[in-house]
Amino acid sequence: MANAPWIQVEDYKAPGGWTSGEQREARSRAYCEMLERGEILFFRELPFQLSTDDQRFLREQQWSELRMHKNVSYRPTEDVLRGVSGDSATVERLQKIFRSYSAQVIDFAGKFLSPYKDKWILDFASFRPLEEEGRDLPLHKRNDLLHVDAFPSRPTRGGRILRIFTNLNPSRPRVWNTTENFGAIAGKFAKTAGLEKIADDDSAISRAVQNLGAKLGLTSAVRSPYDMFMLRFHDYLKENADFQKNTPKTQIDFPPLATWIVFTDCVAHAVMSGQYAIEQTFLIPPAALVTPDVAPYRILENIAGRPLTA
Ligand code: SIN
Ligand code: FE
Repeated sequence: MANAPWIQVEDYKAPGGWTSGEQREARSRAYCEMLERGEILFFRELPFQLSTDDQRFLREQQWSELRMHKNVSYRPTEDVLRGVSGDSATVERLQKIFRSYSAQVIDFAGKFLSPYKDKWILDFASFRPLEEEGRDLPLHKRNDLLHVDAFPSRPTRGGRILRIFTNLNPSRPRVWNTTENFGAIAGKFAKTAGLEKIADDDSAISRAVQNLGAKLGLTSAVRSPYDMFMLRFHDYLKENADFQKNTPKTQIDFPPLATWIVFTDCVAHAVMSGQYAIEQTFLIPPAALVTPDVAPYRILENIAGRPLTA
């Protein structure tokens, strides 16, 4: 696979690979470092069991009423499924599928990326059953525009967004575009997007008010300047028609039943087409990172010249 825009992981299940504890740990660390630097790790085969019956069951639900919701979500820590309707047998089977999928992916991630195991915050799993090409969504919700991920309701204070995707389409690829690395796009656009304003004292006051609101239970999230900037940067990149048109793009076709792992807070991405992806997200706190120097919060702190995660 010459010049693939991903690193194909072949040694994970290979005989003799990942056998001794020491070797396993060194490989895990090396893969964490590649991810933190913005590489996409690619697996040609499912690293979990999901029967073809269950795959078909997921695909064949009547998902069209979802329209404005972007997807179905499952919260592994609460065993709660959102965005599904139907008779109780259907909902129960869907929940069972998500429970098993999520548990297996968490187990796989704990082994494959062992430095993060149990230090992460388990975030949601999701299923994306609608065709991505030509979806009619408001600008900031469009996923066919290049962006970095940031979650309004789950600030990370410098922690990173790690996602494990699988294309469950039996015959068509999921097509992404990516562009230059985070350092390059932040170097070009962070200041214009308002990094300095967010890092300065005025914002500190509004943050104090917001954090007080969070303490009083009026708002749910305590955001650091980093979180505020990343939300702004997500929107800024989607709003920037010149960037969307002219930034150099790499198209990636993820084949049917491929799995890929990526830090979507540093790899700007857009999904151009594809239907039926399943995904589990993890939030990796700064203390668990193997290469914190390349984390977006550090890159932004270097540009802003001050701390952003306090
Ligand atoms: C995203 O932009 O985070 C979604 C990517 C995808 O669904 O493939
Ligand atoms: Fe995204």
